[in-house]
Parts: sequence; structure tokens; C-alpha cells
Amino acid sequence: LGMKMDLPRPEMFDFHGVTMVHYFTDSWDKVQNFQARPDDILIATYPKAGTTWGSLILDLLYFGKTSPERQTSIPIYDRVPFLEIYIPSVKSGIDQAESLPTTPRIIKTHFPVQFVPKSFWEQNCKMVYVARNAKDNMVSYFHFDRMNMVQPDPGDWNSYFHRFMEGKLVFGSWYDHVNNWWKKKQTYSNIHYMFYEDMIEDTGREIDKLCFFLGLSPSAEEKNQIMYGVQFDNMKKNDMTNYSTFHVMDFKISTFMRKGEVGDWKNHFTVAQNEEFEEDYKKRMTDHTLQFRTEV
Ligand code: A3P
Repeated sequence: LGMKMDLPRPEMFDFHGVTMVHYFTDSWDKVQNFQARPDDILIATYPKAGTTWGSLILDLLYFGKTSPERQTSIPIYDRVPFLEIYIPSVKSGIDQAESLPTTPRIIKTHFPVQFVPKSFWEQNCKMVYVARNAKDNMVSYFHFDRMNMVQPDPGDWNSYFHRFMEGKLVFGSWYDHVNNWWKKKQTYSNIHYMFYEDMIEDTGREIDKLCFFLGLSPSAEEKNQIMYGVQFDNMKKNDMTNYSTFHVMDFKISTFMRKGEVGDWKNHFTVAQNEEFEEDYKKRMTDHTLQFRTEV
């Protein structure tokens, strides 16, 4: 994606019950037939929940020490391929994943759990799910849709707000996404479910928990280096992690590493919107074992 590209903004449509755009369904058959390996690691998220943050942590844990040059020469989106992406004249996520020279392969997806190719389950792959509270996730997604030409135009904030609640955004309903991945954990134990807000509160603690899940034990020095590398300001400065080289995005409209905070929703939600949102939220989020924080 080295060149500036003029892509038409895509239309949304219903795809097996989930709102999608063709950039993420055009390689459906290939994606569904993808052959996972037992040591593949899948990082799954609803868009804008902290995918890049989680991806960089994983990449540093596995390759930070052995190949430091990777950190300064390969953009994060090439180190961690996006499974379902298919943009004309760009290497597809599948092709990228299949040509990764390193092991383990860390692969990213925004699929709702029911779309994950079956071989990931058959191979009992480790999966890391990152979830972010609905309000901040919505705000982040709104700004992303403004600047990313692979996404439909978001329209105005109030209509976006309602479309979020209806689940009519790319990759479908946030509510279904976070709940169905959460439910899957009951029957598939190889899922580590993380929260963006916990990572903000104590990144080190969350890295420790992640390491326990992965069976890794980095040295104190390694961990310090990772903590430094994944700080918001450092990721924002770093051209290998800030998406400045990914030219379907217009940074004049908004940046990829935008704010990195919990609670920015307060700058966007009106009092009336917040009331409407809360009322609706209670009806949709009936599994009280899954709890989100909208401030830390
Ligand atoms: P904001 O738009 O709220 O700033 P994704 O990687 O899933 O697309 O998510 C992007 C969101 O995660 C953006 O949120 C981005 O700023 C935030 N983010 C990325 N790296 C971060 C970090 N190291 N610390 C905090 N937030 C981070």
C-alpha cells in the first residue's frame, strides 16, 4: 500500500446476517478454507477496540528480541496480516498470511465469532480477543470511518450513533460481537478475553496475564522494552505502527492513533443520546458476567 489510492467508498450489505462491505467478503471462500496451523495466534476484535495495540504487544513478545530490525522496517499491518481483507491490486490478507516467513503467525480478524474459519478451531489455535466499551468504541469507529476510504462514509454523528445501536456498521453489531466471543469462551478454552480499559489502567498487568495465557515468560528487561514500545505516544510517533504508510486513510481528516483514551465518548454523546443509549444497552446486554467500564 505504498501508493496513494483512490478507492470508491463501499456499500454495506447483509452477509449471512452481518452487515459487511465487499472488501471483507470478496475472498470469503479462500478465507473459509484457510489452513491454520496449531501455533497460529488469532487476534480478534470489533474494529477500533485496540487491535493494533494488541497486535504490537504480541509481535514484540514473539519477535522483539529475536528480530529487532522487524520493528523498524515492517509496518505492523504487514507483520500481522488482516485475514479477510481483499483490496484490488493489494496483496490479500490470505496471501499475506500464507507467505509469512516467521512462526508463530499472528493473524488479525474483525470477524464475528461464527465467521472464523473452521481450521482455527480444529487446530485449537490460541485466540486473543480485545473488547472495548461500546461508547468509546463507537466514537473511535466514527472518526475512523471518516478518514478510511475502505469504509462507508459515516454521515453525521447522530445517524452514526443510531446505526451503531442497530448494528448496521461494518462487521455488524458490537453487542453481538462482544457477547458471542464471550460466550464462545465457555466451550473453547483457548480464548483470552482482554479489555481495552484494563490495558489503559495497567498495561503491565495485562501483559503479564497475556503471557500466562501464551505460556511466555519474558525477562524484566524485555517486558520494559515492550511496555515502552506500546505506549500510545511512542506508537503514534512510530511510522511502523501509526498507519501513516497505509494510504487508503486520509490523515488530514483524522489520524489512526487518534486519542487512545477511555472516556472520549463524553465529548461526543449529548445528554439525550446518553440516556437513549443506556436504556437500549440494558436491553441488549443481558449477560451480566460481561461488564464494561466507560471510565477508569
Ligand atoms: P481512538 O480512536 O479512541 O484514539 P484498532 O487498532 O482496533 O483500530 O483501534 C484503534 C484505537 O486504539 C484508537 O482509538 C487508537 O488510538 C487506540 N490505540 C492504539 N494504540 C494504543 C495504545 N498504545 N494505547 C492506547 N490506545 C491505543
